[in-house]
Amino acid sequence: MKNKDTILVTGGAGFIGSHLVDRLVDKFNVIVIDNLSSGKKANLKKSISKIRFIKTDLSKVTVMKFAKSLPKIDYIFHLSALADIVPSIDRPLEYVHSNILATYNILEIAKFKNVRKIIYSASSSCYGLSKNYPTKVSSHIDTQYPYAHTKYIAELSIIHWSRVYNIDYLSFRFFNVYGPRARTNGTYGAVFGTFLAQVLNKAPLTIVGNGRQQRDFIYISDVVNLLEKSIKSQQSNKIYNVGYGEPRSINELVKMLNYKNIEYIPKRPGEPYVTHADIVKTKKDFNWKPLISLEDGVKLMINKIDYWKDAPVWTKKKIKKATKIWFEKLS
Ligand SMILES: NC(=O)c1ccc[n+]([C@@H]2O[C@H](COP(=O)([O-])OP(=O)(O)OC[C@H]3O[C@@H](n4cnc5c(N)ncnc54)[C@H](O)[C@@H]3O)[C@@H](O)[C@H]2O)c1
Repeated sequence: MKNKDTILVTGGAGFIGSHLVDRLVDKFNVIVIDNLSSGKKANLKKSISKIRFIKTDLSKVTVMKFAKSLPKIDYIFHLSALADIVPSIDRPLEYVHSNILATYNILEIAKFKNVRKIIYSASSSCYGLSKNYPTKVSSHIDTQYPYAHTKYIAELSIIHWSRVYNIDYLSFRFFNVYGPRARTNGTYGAVFGTFLAQVLNKAPLTIVGNGRQQRDFIYISDVVNLLEKSIKSQQSNKIYNVGYGEPRSINELVKMLNYKNIEYIPKRPGEPYVTHADIVKTKKDFNWKPLISLEDGVKLMINKIDYWKDAPVWTKKKIKKATKIWFEKLS
């Protein structure tokens, strides 16, 4: 590989990872590790000829042998994880493996390779049902389901390894990231994928509760801008929120989609009414700000709506079945 810094991206075939890789390939040597459990090699089609792709389950590698097989690594973006909520309630151990054990493995690799910084994709789900808006990084941690728990334990592990083994880290707690290539792996999940597949198939949009609940949506290019800036930034050993900083309701989103065929499904336990990132520190420390409003983001998504043509089309009945365990365990 050429004489550039080398960046290892775990989960690089996933939604956020593949957009990040597309941004990095011309400036860095890039190695991607992904087991393709929810990611797709097709997400990397723009960059695949310029990267080294390693298909492996990070929770199952033999750490020293694997680390020795890798070249010098300067930075690690640790984005791999199982990221859906419902299966995490059903099969928590899979989440322990992919989200926690895999993180210990990557930390050991980071230690052995003496990397300059490990940058972690944490989750705003750690705040649970926060009552403080905008929510600061110092807010109370209140994980509601195993996905949130495992993402938070991994964050704590990174901080611990950093302290004991002197590895610099940054942890970014993402709020609702949206954009093309968002996961469509058959699991009921993020609102954008659900709605766009319904629009494409002229099916009713399934609105949870009364639709007045608000989410802090941030477009993928804004996230990638921040991640790119974080590589060479002087900031280290800190946690940051990553959102647009302005919550918008599901009803507003529906209005932007200009689609009248709607139906309502029951509100779920364990889900916050509002998510709202306090991003004051993120903006200041990285000289960054989100640029894509939800209105513009929705237009960009509609332009790429064909991406969702093979995504599952969720009906009220299918959602009821898929989320049964959610109501059983979290009420
Ligand atoms: N998208 C969001 O709104 C959001 C919000 C908060 C946090 N995050 C975090 O950001 C990261 C990326 O999320 P995303 O939306 O791109 O999800 P994604 O599912 O598209 O990407 C995750 C990638 O990790 C890979 N992976 C999973 N387990 C693995 C394992 N054991 N070994 C190797 N690879 C494995 C998957 O195949 C996939 O390509 C995740 O860590 C997620 O928890 C995302």
